[in-house]
Amino acid sequence: MYRELHHPLVQSLVNTLRDNTIDAFVFRHTIKELTKLLLYEALREIPQISKKIMTWNGEKEYDYIKEEEIVVVSVLRAGLPMHEAVIDTLRAAVSGFLGIKRDELTHKSVLYYDRVGDCTGKKVILVDPMMATGGSLCDAIEVLNKKHAKSICILNILASPEGIETVLNKHPDVEMIIAKIDEKLNNDKFIIPGLGDAGDRAYNTL
Ligand code: PRP
Repeated sequence: MYRELHHPLVQSLVNTLRDNTIDAFVFRHTIKELTKLLLYEALREIPQISKKIMTWNGEKEYDYIKEEEIVVVSVLRAGLPMHEAVIDTLRAAVSGFLGIKRDELTHKSVLYYDRVGDCTGKKVILVDPMMATGGSLCDAIEVLNKKHAKSICILNILASPEGIETVLNKHPDVEMIIAKIDEKLNNDKFIIPGLGDAGDRAYNTL
């Protein structure tokens, strides 16, 4: 299942990212702003727990998200600003990191680092700004399935139609929240119109 956010605020932020004149700080900041909006959408149906708290007016009971049952996993490097935005909001969520790099010649993704713990009974929020061929996310999902994730929700800024199809064909159970689905991939498997290489733009390695 996938959902694209059709909202003027989301469109405006995505189109800010397309502007090649913004610096890395503004690029990361804009990614974080968009991530909060994606997270808002992703958590619509999240189970809540009732907790007693002390208020100015005595003890009361209110509903809260079970943050401890959420694992936030980012795909390095470009997923890092998204990761920061999610854990700033879900402060009790567990973090995990996957290093996955797309080979520039073959366009195949390679897993080079896995720092994700056991995910049994946990909802995983998997963040990566770009879904081009979908290879990196398929690799990430396979790793998370082996760690017994209860469910996986991907937060994604830009996706190609080809990438969405590949991920959903292989993993129909995952949920994807996407800010903008772009037109297509070019011969180098870059998203068109896209925004270039998100990792390079976030970390000044152009
Ligand atoms: C980019 C991007 C995704 C992946 C998307 O990362 O951030 O992780 O490519 O491509 P795919 O859907 O075809 O697999 P990249 O490999 O450039 O690594 P980086 O974040 O270190 O720049």
